[in-house]
Amino acid sequence: MQLRLDKYLADMGIGTRTQVKQYIRKNQVLVNGLPPEGPQQKVTDSDMVTFQGSAISYQKYKYYMFHKPKGCVSAAADNRHKTVLDYFPEYSRKGLFPVGRLDLDTEGLLLITNDGALAHNLLSPAKHVPKTYYAEVGGTVTEEDKAQFAQGIDIGGEKQALPAKLEILPEKSPEISRVHLTITEGKFHQVKRMFGAVGKQVLYLKRVSMGGLMLDGSLSPGEYRELTEKELQNLKE
Ligand code: URA
Repeated sequence: MQLRLDKYLADMGIGTRTQVKQYIRKNQVLVNGLPPEGPQQKVTDSDMVTFQGSAISYQKYKYYMFHKPKGCVSAAADNRHKTVLDYFPEYSRKGLFPVGRLDLDTEGLLLITNDGALAHNLLSPAKHVPKTYYAEVGGTVTEEDKAQFAQGIDIGGEKQALPAKLEILPEKSPEISRVHLTITEGKFHQVKRMFGAVGKQVLYLKRVSMGGLMLDGSLSPGEYRELTEKELQNLKE
């Protein structure tokens, strides 16, 4: 890897190319402990780059846990709605995409990355990566629904939905049930269609985990943070 210093810093999300040039001019960036010649200076993996005293190592791949709010689409671009990437600063968006899709009105855990191989693995139907949703459902969800979901249920596609684990939580009100549902595939509107198949309507849906990755409760809708090393390792396993 050999890059211009301003590109290196912009790629690592320090700021726009214009901003990082200013940081360089103000001596807030050092290369191997020394002020660089300028933004055009070439840096490689073996150079130690610091910004305001902190080391900036070059990461090819980026992994963010995003708490998707309602009202945005899980796509990199859309001409009608806000996208999940609109929550990231423009200079940091290059190459990023969401891993899988949540409906416009679904909230919760979405992995945002530029690592195509990891995304491919997580989304591969053959891998059966479990995804757990919290849902509020109109009416009373019953043990019979649980048994039907456990068997696999016809949701109107070519193949029926694979067996899924339904956990019935204490109800929200006499009219609204609360559940956790874990599915191992990702068919279009799958959770809503599964409840539809037992005559019920999903009123609120939030994904709480995917593989070994759990939504961080301290992230509000619209917020994101980088994955920790451990989270990334779990996900790769
Ligand atoms: N199932 C749904 O119905 N919607 C989602 O957004 C995710 C799973």
